[in-house]
Amino acid sequence: MEGLVDAAFALLARVGWFWLAAFLFLGFPVLAVALNVVKQLPFMKDPNQPPVVFHLLPFFGSTITYGMDPYKFFFAMREKEDNMIMGGKLSQVNAEEAYRNLTTPVFGEDVVFDVPNHVLMEQKRFVKFGLTTENLRAYVGMIEEEVEMFLSFDPAFSAYNSSGKDVWGTFDAYHAMSQLTILTASRTLQGNEVRSQMKKMFAQMYEDLDGGFTPLNMIVPNIALPNNIRRNKARKAMTEFYMNILRTRREKPSAETEYDMIAALKDQHYKDGRPVSDREIAHMMIALLMAGQHTSSATVSWCLFHIAHRQDIPQALFQEQVESFSNHDGSLRSPTYEELKGLPILDSIIRETLRLHPPLHSLMRKVVSDLPVPYSLGSAPENRTLVIPKGNYVLAAPCVTQVDPGIWRKPMEWQPSRWTETGNLAAQLYRDYAETCEKVNYGFAMISNGTDSPYQPFGSRRHRCIGEQFAYVQLETILAVIVRKLEMKIDHVPSHNYTTLIISPQKPRSINFRRRR
Ligand code: HEM
Ligand SMILES: *[C@@H]1O[C@H](CO)[C@@H](O)[C@H](O)[C@H]1NC(C)=O
Ligand SMILES: *[C@@H]1O[C@H](CO)[C@@H](O)[C@H](O)[C@H]1NC(C)=O
Ligand SMILES: *[C@@H]1O[C@H](CO)[C@@H](O)[C@H](O)[C@H]1NC(C)=O
Ligand SMILES: *[C@@H]1O[C@H](CO)[C@@H](O)[C@H](O)[C@H]1NC(C)=O
Ligand SMILES: *[C@@H]1O[C@H](CO)[C@@H](O)[C@H](O)[C@H]1NC(C)=O
Repeated sequence: MEGLVDAAFALLARVGWFWLAAFLFLGFPVLAVALNVVKQLPFMKDPNQPPVVFHLLPFFGSTITYGMDPYKFFFAMREKEDNMIMGGKLSQVNAEEAYRNLTTPVFGEDVVFDVPNHVLMEQKRFVKFGLTTENLRAYVGMIEEEVEMFLSFDPAFSAYNSSGKDVWGTFDAYHAMSQLTILTASRTLQGNEVRSQMKKMFAQMYEDLDGGFTPLNMIVPNIALPNNIRRNKARKAMTEFYMNILRTRREKPSAETEYDMIAALKDQHYKDGRPVSDREIAHMMIALLMAGQHTSSATVSWCLFHIAHRQDIPQALFQEQVESFSNHDGSLRSPTYEELKGLPILDSIIRETLRLHPPLHSLMRKVVSDLPVPYSLGSAPENRTLVIPKGNYVLAAPCVTQVDPGIWRKPMEWQPSRWTETGNLAAQLYRDYAETCEKVNYGFAMISNGTDSPYQPFGSRRHRCIGEQFAYVQLETILAVIVRKLEMKIDHVPSHNYTTLIISPQKPRSINFRRRR
């Protein structure tokens, strides 16, 4: 039992303390941490198994129950079976109040968290409309080309000796993958105009905007710090840039099919008949750029670190490519969208990496009406209810369930094989849940109405990610091309840096590589 307690706190320490400390120091009145929930799991019905694994850990200031007996409280909360935060009703918890300070100055007005939830649901529907299978199919070849060009021409990847032979070199994985992510996203979702301006003005605008995407801005968004001033300027320029693209495309329609998101958004209407304005489209494009950038670049970096660290994996991955895509002459042909999705080793590597390194470790909501949180204290006779008063902020960390020792065997180890081996309880549980859970439409797609999955790196319910399929295409294609071209080695997988908005790898984060012959 004690081992379990230690493990639980080690987990919390890994994923949560930065945010807790940040918010408490910055004077957040009340903070509740919901460490997610797994309820009514099939194997939980087995009397020999431990009780339902639920995590919810509210704090009151930094005091009372938790402060008095955190271990007892923590485990008491783990036994409850509802997820108050993620599963909270719209009338109880609200995301836009929690995120708006951070996002509106970066994305611009009238989109995402600057509008009521029902409008966000419509805007997510518009974006979903652009992420068709047809478009995703078209993206594979574009991404492949971008990665190949990058590996050929980026100076970080030139490692030759004086007689022109390939030798071992190093590249900063996070830096390189950030560049590659924005290049591939702009080539696909963002469209040709953005891609062709990337080396020029766009990269600088993006960097200035990104500099305004900092945790501090959640609480105090408008201090005239240099980074905020640059952010505001860049956001205006970026809005203009996208609005120009829209104007130009209307004046001179292209004969070619456009697979990008601008093309998908420009003919959308809200349910009341109002067309989406150019300004709203511009701001949605910025929002998508920001939503996909650090999440994908961090994920592909973590994948590379683990691949390079595990000597058996690069070979297995490469072999999977060879078996699936060899031409008669031994060269490798381009994969298709469908083929990429069917590669078990590649898929389980991404899945496992998102289990251990979900880019978003804390999902936030504001409590808009008093939120009762029932719990029972193990041996105590009566059940109790905590009430988190309205006006406070709560924070959910579903990632903790992803490393829960009660569910996952050797949870802190990166083991992609857990997703493919037969009889792996956790993986089976996840698949069963995905198949059997109730689906509901919040306005943008049919998705699970519950929050009970032990694995949800893309969130759940109404705020669930709509970029998952795109992210997978991007990650799969980038990794496939890199593994075809490079051998990689690394001694240590870097630790998490929690001071960035999205968990990033700590320095040093370079990988040793050599071109494959
Ligand atoms: C590995 C990549 C990604 C991960 C792990 C990820 C994760 C998440 C998570 C956890 C949420 C829920 C946030 C919350 O409940 O507070 C979310 C929402 C969202 N994501 Fe992603 N995301 C990824 C990539 C992308 C990409 C590529 C796009 C755009 C193309 C995108 C667009 C969005 C949008 C629009 C939302 C909805 C926000 C809301 O409804 O409140 N994401 N994502
Ligand atoms: C360059 O590398 C190749 C292959 O590793 C090696 O055979 C050759 O001697 C090297 N040349 C020089 C000048 O170091
Ligand atoms: C957002 O900023 C305002 C000040 O502009 C502040 O009063 C409010 O508390 C902030 N919201 C959050 C979630 O910190
Ligand atoms: C406390 O809650 C649990 C589960 O929610 C329930 O099974 C139990 O009967 C409750 N106990 C009392 C005394 O209400
Ligand atoms: C999910 O849907 C089912 C059936 O529609 C319903 O009984 C259940 O309460 C829903 N769960 C949540 C968490 O909304
Ligand atoms: C962590 O991220 C911060 C913010 O970007 C950066 O200043 C710091 O150097 C990083 N720390 C490490 C060890 O990489």
